[in-house]
Amino acid sequence: MSRRISERRPTLSPLNRRQFLSGAAAVVGAAGIRYPIWALPGPSSAGNLLLGVDYYPDQTPESLWDEDSRMMAEFGFTNVRIAEFAWGLMEPAEGKFDFAWLHRAVETLHKYNISIILGTPSAAPPPWLMVKYPDVVEVNEKGEPLHPGGRRFTCPTNQVYRRLSLIIASAMAREFAETPGVIGWQIDNELTLGSSPRCYCNFCQAGFQTWLRSRYGSLDNLNKSWGTVFWSQTYTDFSQIPVPLPSGGDPNPGLALDYDRYQSYANVSFQDEQLVMLRKTCPRHFVTTNNVGLPLDTIDLRSLYEKLDFVAFDNYPGFFEMLLHQESNSPISPDTIPANIALGHDFARSLKGGKPFMIMEEQSGKAGQRSFSPQPEKGQVRLWTHQAVAHGAMGVNYFRWDTATFGAEEYWHGILNHDRSRSPGYNEIKQAVKELKGLGPEVLNSSYAADAALVFDYDCSWAVKIQPGNFALSYMAQVTSWYGAMSASHTGIDVITPGADLAAYKIVFAPVVYVLSEAQAARIRSFVQGGGMFVTNFRLGVKTETSQMVRTPLPGLLRDVMGVTVADYVPIYSAKQGVKFSSTVAGADGQCGLWADILQPSGAEVLGSYTNGEHAGEAAVTMNSFGKGKAIYIGGDLDAASLSRVLRAFAASAGVKRPFDVPAGVELTVRKSGDKQWIFLLNHTSVAQTVGLPTAFTDLLTKEAQSGTIELSGYGVKVLQASV
Ligand code: GLA
Ligand code: ZN
Repeated sequence: MSRRISERRPTLSPLNRRQFLSGAAAVVGAAGIRYPIWALPGPSSAGNLLLGVDYYPDQTPESLWDEDSRMMAEFGFTNVRIAEFAWGLMEPAEGKFDFAWLHRAVETLHKYNISIILGTPSAAPPPWLMVKYPDVVEVNEKGEPLHPGGRRFTCPTNQVYRRLSLIIASAMAREFAETPGVIGWQIDNELTLGSSPRCYCNFCQAGFQTWLRSRYGSLDNLNKSWGTVFWSQTYTDFSQIPVPLPSGGDPNPGLALDYDRYQSYANVSFQDEQLVMLRKTCPRHFVTTNNVGLPLDTIDLRSLYEKLDFVAFDNYPGFFEMLLHQESNSPISPDTIPANIALGHDFARSLKGGKPFMIMEEQSGKAGQRSFSPQPEKGQVRLWTHQAVAHGAMGVNYFRWDTATFGAEEYWHGILNHDRSRSPGYNEIKQAVKELKGLGPEVLNSSYAADAALVFDYDCSWAVKIQPGNFALSYMAQVTSWYGAMSASHTGIDVITPGADLAAYKIVFAPVVYVLSEAQAARIRSFVQGGGMFVTNFRLGVKTETSQMVRTPLPGLLRDVMGVTVADYVPIYSAKQGVKFSSTVAGADGQCGLWADILQPSGAEVLGSYTNGEHAGEAAVTMNSFGKGKAIYIGGDLDAASLSRVLRAFAASAGVKRPFDVPAGVELTVRKSGDKQWIFLLNHTSVAQTVGLPTAFTDLLTKEAQSGTIELSGYGVKVLQASV
């Protein structure tokens, strides 16, 4: 097949504006009234807990279904997710559907009172489809078409693929809308994942052009917004606009940023087509989709989950650790994994304003494909389960019931081994499920206590990738290190996206606010004016929403709020730069890693000054009083220890505190409902830890009274309720 399937290049009209926008408009209709079968999470929804397992009757001999269902019921599972990869069995030939096997599987599960979440199968199309419609494949960033044989290789814009995906999903929905036991749907599977997170095919080019027409209205506005006069790129027709494939020079930053936005939109609107159909056909079923959240930034998950009933994420701490080993030879510090996983959970919870989320796939054993992580140590799988709940999860499904004996994931171990014997985690998972049932809907559906927020902004993540300034600068790495610096204080932190209401927080952290919209600047301004503490660092407000450079002295829109001017900005490669802190944040001198913004205070207090080179003595960290609040600018890319110290000092000065101290390696979170609160203690180390309790509690897991100094066994968990 040629590099860009040019011989089959469609004229620009196939993706007309109406078709595209109709997808978006139809979503509005989805807000109809519904009478759900499965009372979705809410303090009152007694009994309906989503504690289950991902099951593959399509990959399991039918003779084992009854035994599996009986064992899963005895295990305590309330639901299974099935069929998300069963397109070929449900539609063996185009338009020829066979749901008989699936009905038998559902009946068998329902017989044992196990409810069913059905997956729409558009993540893996059957071979007949790929032979008949070869150009539904994705084209990667080099312009090369992907190939069938794996999964997640199709284009999110392609109208043929969308139509075929909708046909099979609609057929399933009609078939199971009223089927006893079916309670909800997972649309597709992990849209954020895939070997090429972006598609650069002709259909996407036409779709992008249509999307730009509706975003900018006129070519004149687009040309001005991007500054296309540079390098003679002025467009005189939308059909001339390319996608950012390899070209002699870098793409226009405005075009490249809009392409990231378009691809995110294309995936969201792909999902919405199925969502609109499911809302109509199965009004009483809940609908979600599963994803890996941070550190992936391929799709704006806030928009992806906006119209879904709840967020569902997949969680594989052991596998994640193996990936980190794969990426870097440097040793992984013990709190890295727990903090990264906690970041993912806090993001999942914050995507829908604190609404409890579900783990649709929780690691249950060795995990991986070609290479796999070792069996989690005894207690770890239970610990990871409780960690998700400690951060706001209301339900957990384990991946997977049995371990596949064929296919690419033979080493992604389940609760049963290849020989169907019990895996090492079997009893531990059973205990965790029993414990979560013991906690019940009141705890599982309670809210999460967080006085602090960390901003994650997709536009900044994409724009820094397009123009990092220092090739080693990663927005995601900055957000992760800021989260890591704060999470050790165990004071609870929401991970919010721009647009979220800041008023609820005492302190808001926002690293590398590279792209700053007028609206976001206004939100930050009124937050500080109203008494909030806003903490940010270098590259603040450099770019407009269309990724042009602001034409006012930096930090542009927030210059008055921050009370400084950026005299210069310095990517650091070899020349070391240090920071000497003032008494306000007294401590050892800091080191700057990748960047230093040289600050000129215009009213702000200097909390730290550079120590080296021509900028020695100039301001590195400043704090400005603005309205009733404070705005802090950390000009340098501080080392981890200094960053952790100063961020936690700022949080403390903003009045953010934790219920009581815990030793290193132990995590503490708080969930609350009305005047009740529950403190989760999670020991992420393999050795026992002692914790001093300020008052008497009851451990809801053991029903035992807890006071004074208590012992938390290796990988131990306690859920403490204050004894009244
Ligand atoms: C992902 C996918 C699953 C499966 C598991 C294990 O999260 O959603 O289909 O691949 O990982 O690999
Ligand atoms: Zn495409």
